[in-house]
Amino acid sequence: MLKKSIESALNKQLNAELYSSYLYLSMSAFFETIPLKGFARWLRLQAAEEQEHGMKFYDYIIEAGGTVTLAQIAAPKSAWKSAKEVFDEVYAHEQKVTGLINNIMDLAVAEKDYATQQFLSWFVTEQVEEEANASDICAQIRMTEGAPGQLFAVNRELGMRE
Ligand SMILES: [Fe+2]
Ligand SMILES: [Fe+2]
Repeated sequence: MLKKSIESALNKQLNAELYSSYLYLSMSAFFETIPLKGFARWLRLQAAEEQEHGMKFYDYIIEAGGTVTLAQIAAPKSAWKSAKEVFDEVYAHEQKVTGLINNIMDLAVAEKDYATQQFLSWFVTEQVEEEANASDICAQIRMTEGAPGQLFAVNRELGMRE
């Protein structure tokens, strides 16, 4: 049985993962209009991945005997100045999410909830990968400064994401 404090934190993170999905889908839609379709594809797939993260929390809450409570999902912004601005925000957002996961882990440790610690460990590892991916793309975009045509090469590579 989940403690109420843990249940509440997990429900909040479920909402945060769905917000991440919403944010990346909005970014994807922005790239569709520029149009940089490779960036759009990468972010669309990332939005689907965040949806899956949300469902991992959803399933765990139920399996652990808790109650899923869905809250309103905040509207993400819909316009950016550049690809660089978008991916700087992706990277900052992933760092923020890492902090959120770490906070729930701190709570699970304090509450001696070993099952939730085990569940969260997947996300601790996942966030290392998420930050690395975002940081790499930021670096690739930075390399195109002064040679904007190179953005098409990054766009092509991101468009190959499976
Ligand atoms: Fe996530
Ligand atoms: Fe993420």
